[in-house]
Amino acid sequence: MTKKILILGGYGTCGRRIAEILMQEPGAECVIGGRDAARGQLVSATLGIPFVTVDIQRQASLNAALDGIFAVVNTCGPFRPHDYVVAERCARRGVHYVDMADETSYILGIQGLSGRAVEGHVSLVSGAGSGLVFSSVLAAAIAPGFDTITDIEIAALSGNRNPRGLASMQALLAAQARRARIFEGGAWQEVPGYTRGRTVALPEPFGRHRLYVADAPEIEILGKRYGAGVTYRTGLELAVLNRVHAWLGSLNRLGVIADPARYARGLHAVQKGLRRFGKAAFGLRVVLRGERGGQPFMRNAALVVCEDGLSTLCSPAVALVRKWMAGGGEPGAFPCSGVLTLADMTREWATQQVVLQLS
Ligand SMILES: NC(=O)c1ccc[n+]([C@@H]2O[C@H](COP(=O)([O-])OP(=O)(O)OC[C@H]3O[C@@H](n4cnc5c(N)ncnc54)[C@H](OP(=O)(O)O)[C@@H]3O)[C@@H](O)[C@H]2O)c1
Repeated sequence: MTKKILILGGYGTCGRRIAEILMQEPGAECVIGGRDAARGQLVSATLGIPFVTVDIQRQASLNAALDGIFAVVNTCGPFRPHDYVVAERCARRGVHYVDMADETSYILGIQGLSGRAVEGHVSLVSGAGSGLVFSSVLAAAIAPGFDTITDIEIAALSGNRNPRGLASMQALLAAQARRARIFEGGAWQEVPGYTRGRTVALPEPFGRHRLYVADAPEIEILGKRYGAGVTYRTGLELAVLNRVHAWLGSLNRLGVIADPARYARGLHAVQKGLRRFGKAAFGLRVVLRGERGGQPFMRNAALVVCEDGLSTLCSPAVALVRKWMAGGGEPGAFPCSGVLTLADMTREWATQQVVLQLS
């Protein structure tokens, strides 16, 4: 029997790519959902899969869209703080749920729905984008062998040619405006986001690149898991865009501009105009430092996606749906860290140009 998968935001950047991948899965019947019927029907006709008009802020339309659905992939960002309406409704209707949120408090907050998820015998998983999942599986791969881990450094960069939707730009600007916890000189500090620019060595094809500290869910989640301090750095591939984002942050801190998110549409248009420059790659480096046998000990993990970074960024959500379809997954509500293993991800990456280096 086929299982119906509803991809909310299915004509958006990530939603459409997830639909394109999952519609190839034997036994999956994909439906894309969104509030703009004209855009939805166009993508529906191109892909040859049904479209349902649904605004996730409207209970009745959301309820109707969930009829007969086995799992929901929610890409309707930016995710509004404390707004778990889709996940809650899924728990009540016995529907598995995964989202692409990247905001720390949102991802951690999903755990508040654990009781309802267990009652509904479903998994509710938040934060199945690339950053948290990839950092988690890489850290887990190199953690064995340490007696203690004292600090973790994460550096991530998505190439400029990877498509980014408006919601991604809004989420990026919101993340830049948040303060970031960093671990420096053996102590936690809190600093403004998108500051402390530093040239960091990323795996090729990126090489050395200027990155900034930023808030990310892995700071809290991996910090607790390993009892270590965590610093996360990210940035944009094109130096000009990287600087513009850093300047916007400075102007915001000086009180010259109130809310950088207001510039999302303009920056999104500029970024789209510059899409032909740069790479469609994605790079991530995780460094663990600590002790083994009383001596300082360090391990490195790097992941590079050479082409079509977008498919790889969407791969955790796809992997989860496949896991549920195969009867796996625990009931409960979880941030997407420790939910997928390196083996789950390498199965997904087998058809993508992903290179993993552990040392
Ligand atoms: N963590 C990661 O690694 C990672 C990576 C990539 C993306 N993301 C996140 O994934 C999310 C999607 O990114 P994207 O690049 O795909 O953005 P996008 O292209 O703007 O797609 C978002 C989609 O959601 C739809 N939507 C928004 N509000 C809705 C509502 N109330 N009801 C129904 N549909 C609604 C939008 O439709 P309309 O056009 O009608 O508004 C659009 O189709 C963002 O939050 C982004 O931050 C995370």
